[in-house]
Amino acid sequence: MELLVEQIKSLIDKDLPLVSNLSNASAVLNQMENINWVGFYLVKGDKLFLGPFQGDVACTIIPKGKGVCGTSFEKKETIIVPNVNEFKGHIACSSLSKSEIVVPIIKNADVVALIDVDAPIFDRFNEEDKAVLEEIAKILSQLF
Ligand code: SME
Repeated sequence: MELLVEQIKSLIDKDLPLVSNLSNASAVLNQMENINWVGFYLVKGDKLFLGPFQGDVACTIIPKGKGVCGTSFEKKETIIVPNVNEFKGHIACSSLSKSEIVVPIIKNADVVALIDVDAPIFDRFNEEDKAVLEEIAKILSQLF
């Protein structure tokens, strides 16, 4: 996981458009084992819009407070969901997804985007994943 941090640090370039940096960041994150979807949701007003990702077609708009992503946006905190079937209001983009982690990217105390990772197995994400993804979120926050 630490290797991912180094790869993202060396790949991002503040002179490039956000979409280019997040596209490559999603490709780096897609090296995580046992995942079926990874990508970004970008904040616009009180909604989240689908950003660069790797995986199957996903929902394009998520209102604040809805699903795991909208809840992370509202609470400004990382959410680990060991079993998506037990998360009230979970938005199922893919029937493959069984567990999920959502990490907010925070700039000047506001959520500007989210990193969302889905796994095809239950209980995939732990505190180490949370720590590393939060470190990556902090690095990426410089791009906003
Ligand atoms: N499951 C998410 C929706 C996004 S997809 O997983 C890509 C949610 O409940 O917010």
